[in-house]
Amino acid sequence: MNISIETIDPAKRGTCPQELAFGNIFSDHLFTQVSDQGKGWHSAAIKPFHNLTLHPAASVLHYGQEIFEGLKAYRRADGGINLFRPDQNAIRFNHSADRMVMPRVDERFHVEAIRQLVEIDEHWVPNQPGSSLYIRPAMIATTPKLGLGASSSYLHFVMSGPVGPYFKEGFNPVSVYVSDTCRRAVKGGTGDAKTGGNYAASLFMSEQAAKEGYTQVLWLDALEGRYIEEVGAMNICFVYGDKRIVTPELTGSILAGITRDSVLKLAPTLGFEVSEQRLDINEVLAGIDSGDITEVFGCGTAAVISPVGRLRFLGVDKTVNDMKAGPVAKRLFDELTSIQYGKRDDPFGWVVPV
Ligand code: PLP
Ligand code: COI
Repeated sequence: MNISIETIDPAKRGTCPQELAFGNIFSDHLFTQVSDQGKGWHSAAIKPFHNLTLHPAASVLHYGQEIFEGLKAYRRADGGINLFRPDQNAIRFNHSADRMVMPRVDERFHVEAIRQLVEIDEHWVPNQPGSSLYIRPAMIATTPKLGLGASSSYLHFVMSGPVGPYFKEGFNPVSVYVSDTCRRAVKGGTGDAKTGGNYAASLFMSEQAAKEGYTQVLWLDALEGRYIEEVGAMNICFVYGDKRIVTPELTGSILAGITRDSVLKLAPTLGFEVSEQRLDINEVLAGIDSGDITEVFGCGTAAVISPVGRLRFLGVDKTVNDMKAGPVAKRLFDELTSIQYGKRDDPFGWVVPV
């Protein structure tokens, strides 16, 4: 399938600012395609960035039939651009589509649409240290009907925008609030799909935590309120001693992070041991007290590798590594971003030049 291309009038092209936060600036173009029952995907186009028009009864607005993704394009020192593991993103997009009863996309076509969009908005890929172009593919249910049921028409779109650090703390440790009341997802629910409802469900607790000075919420399993799942926008890892990295196993209610998978594959090549296991919050807090756990860090596309310096559970704060970024998080941050920005070899074949 071809993508019809209409580019913006060069006089109207935006410029990428020097100061970058996360997710508030958008590049000049938008990819869209439409799926109708019996017809499949059609009308693929890249056009100047524009608002979407939706019927007020479009099912996404009422029942949240929606999925999204997040990946980044990185500016290399030679001026070229790398995408990081876009194939894995496309696979997860379809996994989410299956769970939300939405039509699958052709993964190769999806990645090619992203590649073309980035190529057209090439000058939006920033080159300041730590910056990148964040790419947000999404799919929404568009059929106007108030009866509950899967939609028969869908819109798949991809937008992008230059970003700096996700957290205002940058690479400095964030404070995390362990929720003892609200739960994000339950086994059998939609926790391992990247769908808006999971994030909507997290907002109540996130707002409470923010009021008390915590940047993120750490979610526990919904059945026993005991096992560590993940953080609002990232997976979580614990460092035992100076060698062993442990992250919660995938249970079906956790997002299978691509950064998490990259850490699990990269860390052993740097001399670390990794394992995925069930982690009891009480044992983890005891491990911080005893000094067995030396570092805690989150990992995600937006968050990259983000040290955690403080955990609050049931009214008690535990400080990790004196609220300082530790050597393991630092090493992983350096090695991972070096692969992403093309500064070191990529034995895994993760990087795809645009
Ligand atoms: N967990 C949640 C809930 C997320 O939103 C994200 C971000 O995408 C992650 C984990 C990390 O996933 P990834 O590394 O694929 O970005
Ligand atoms: C990402 O890291 O890509 C995400 O989707 C997290 C989001 C909450 C910004």
